[in-house]
Amino acid sequence: MSSFTPSTPAVPTHALPSYLQAEHLGPWGTYLQQVERVTPYLGNLSRWVETLKRPKRILIVDVPIELDNGTIAHFEGYRVQHNLSRGPGKGGVRFHQDVTLSEVMALSAWMSIKNAAVNVPYGGAKGGVRVDPQTLSRGELERLTRRYTSEIGLLIGPSKDIPAPDVNTNGQIMAWMMDTYSMNTGATATGVVTGKPVELGGSLGRVEATGRGVFTVGVEAARRTGLVLEGARVAVQGFGNVGGTAAKLFAEAGAKVVAVQDHTGTICHSSGLDVPALLAHVKAHGGVGGFAGAEAMAPADFWGVACDILIPAALEGQITQDNAARIQAKLVIEGANGPTTPEADDILHDKGVLVLPDVIANAGGVTVSYFEWVQDFSSFFWSEDEINARLVRIMKEAFDGVWQVAQEHRVSLRTATFIVACTRILRAREMRGLYP
Ligand SMILES: NC(=O)c1ccc[n+]([C@@H]2O[C@H](COP(=O)([O-])OP(=O)(O)OC[C@H]3O[C@@H](n4cnc5c(N)ncnc54)[C@H](O)[C@@H]3O)[C@@H](O)[C@H]2O)c1
Repeated sequence: MSSFTPSTPAVPTHALPSYLQAEHLGPWGTYLQQVERVTPYLGNLSRWVETLKRPKRILIVDVPIELDNGTIAHFEGYRVQHNLSRGPGKGGVRFHQDVTLSEVMALSAWMSIKNAAVNVPYGGAKGGVRVDPQTLSRGELERLTRRYTSEIGLLIGPSKDIPAPDVNTNGQIMAWMMDTYSMNTGATATGVVTGKPVELGGSLGRVEATGRGVFTVGVEAARRTGLVLEGARVAVQGFGNVGGTAAKLFAEAGAKVVAVQDHTGTICHSSGLDVPALLAHVKAHGGVGGFAGAEAMAPADFWGVACDILIPAALEGQITQDNAARIQAKLVIEGANGPTTPEADDILHDKGVLVLPDVIANAGGVTVSYFEWVQDFSSFFWSEDEINARLVRIMKEAFDGVWQVAQEHRVSLRTATFIVACTRILRAREMRGLYP
């Protein structure tokens, strides 16, 4: 065997892949900045950091369907597997007209970080289709879902990559994905997706899991900072799955939900909204607008509302350099993915606002997805109490670890979460070694 001396490669590695332009990096650029920020804390593992800056696999697919009016429409679909060092890919599928490759790449990378932060044995992945599902009939939506699932069938599988719901996808879409994959492989494979209806191998507790995780880390942060939850004022943007559940749990703990904003309106009530009544109103009318037990307020005023805890649980890029300075909360808990821009993050930090970042705060959903996958493999299903107890334990342990790292290095909780997660991912990478 001839001897091999490591040397500087003759061909330097390109900093960016050819399909990205430095001036239009989009959300992927935000993620790269976050990786730059964490690199000095990675010690010897930093020699592997480049692996975090390159998704392992990107699949771009054409999704043609016949519309109800007989015409053929083509949609662009993606599945990105960012990193599989710690296990199979895991991450949702988003149906949205503005989905881009850069966005799916960033969301897949944030899944790698999130899964490692709560120490579930997954890598990170994400999928998306550039489509506004509101414009499709139910039949068109089903055909789109099934064709997309077939196209990404090259990559997904219960031990390879497991999709889940994200923006504009739900349990029904997961049921169609599971059925399509099962038809193509010739056997029912419930573990190929999570977030399924309970009747098809879904897990109890999955629907409320993300909001429950948001509440759990909120309680932990409040305890550590001396914020008393009884009577604390909470403002929530987004009153859907995540925001609605988080609001309910904070109200049950004695907090007052004083303001809520969604796509139908912004409402407030200084002595606290009746959250169960508001949830019923949203179920009946599709949004918080027109709720009788509240005063309406101008949307822009939501950010300046007098509160102790602010929970963005709607969209990306909501807390920006234009509104961050007005935020009065002591604690911001990111229920949504990427709700705070890097500039706003710095403003909040300078104001002394504690931000619990998405990569740990909204990890409750993927944690119970992991439980669903485990239950599907063993075909043995747990009680809701058992699921909630395990969820709370994992979230508390993860938050505790991140908190300690933040104290030790005097860094934000976001950077601390990246330190914990990137260390786990790169240790796995190093132990596995490079193939061949
Ligand atoms: N559901 C999960 O398990 C989960 C897990 C992790 C992260 N997230 C993230 O949480 C966020 C919310 O997800 P969800 O599942 O609750 O979605 P959802 O569709 O149930 O609710 C979304 C909410 O946002 C509101 N909204 C939409 N546009 C708005 C606007 N312009 N201004 C104010 N409010 C607006 C909607 O009215 C709705 O109340 C997303 O960023 C999602 O990626 C969700």
